[in-house]
Amino acid sequence: MNQVANIVKIGDPLLKTRAADIDNFGTRELDELIEFLFYNLDHFHGAGIAAPQLGVGQQIFAYGFEKNPRYPNEKPVPKTVLINPVIISSSDETIGYYEGCLSVPHLRGEVIRPRSIEYQAYTPQGKLIQKTATGFEARIIQHEVDHLNGILFPFRMQSLDTLKYSEN
Ligand code: NI
Repeated sequence: MNQVANIVKIGDPLLKTRAADIDNFGTRELDELIEFLFYNLDHFHGAGIAAPQLGVGQQIFAYGFEKNPRYPNEKPVPKTVLINPVIISSSDETIGYYEGCLSVPHLRGEVIRPRSIEYQAYTPQGKLIQKTATGFEARIIQHEVDHLNGILFPFRMQSLDTLKYSEN
């Protein structure tokens, strides 16, 4: 579905609600939702985008880019879709980073998160995978899993002192 979505913004109840698990693996309907996610990920220059941000309350997100104008210093991240994801462990080592979100436009704020994570998720064909991620990819996954659980990055900030305006 190549259609520009209205991005759901902070304050909408959909972004505070846990999204529903997906069970329609391998269907055309799921393929179209994945296409919709990637189309809007590129259109809005997201690092990642979760289905609830497009008005779809389901446990799925897409992420990845070659070059991202909103995060110009980051190296490419492979384009990936994760379904029903769960973070199963995370490193003791943490790192702070100024996060942004398409649902929280023009704001950035420092969020401290584990540097590395181990996660499980399903592929579009319904295969369970288990992987590790580190650095910016680990941050994206944690931010997007939060979306699926109804949490936006400002609620992860240790202090609102670092909240600041951003042009993009
Ligand atoms: Ni976000």
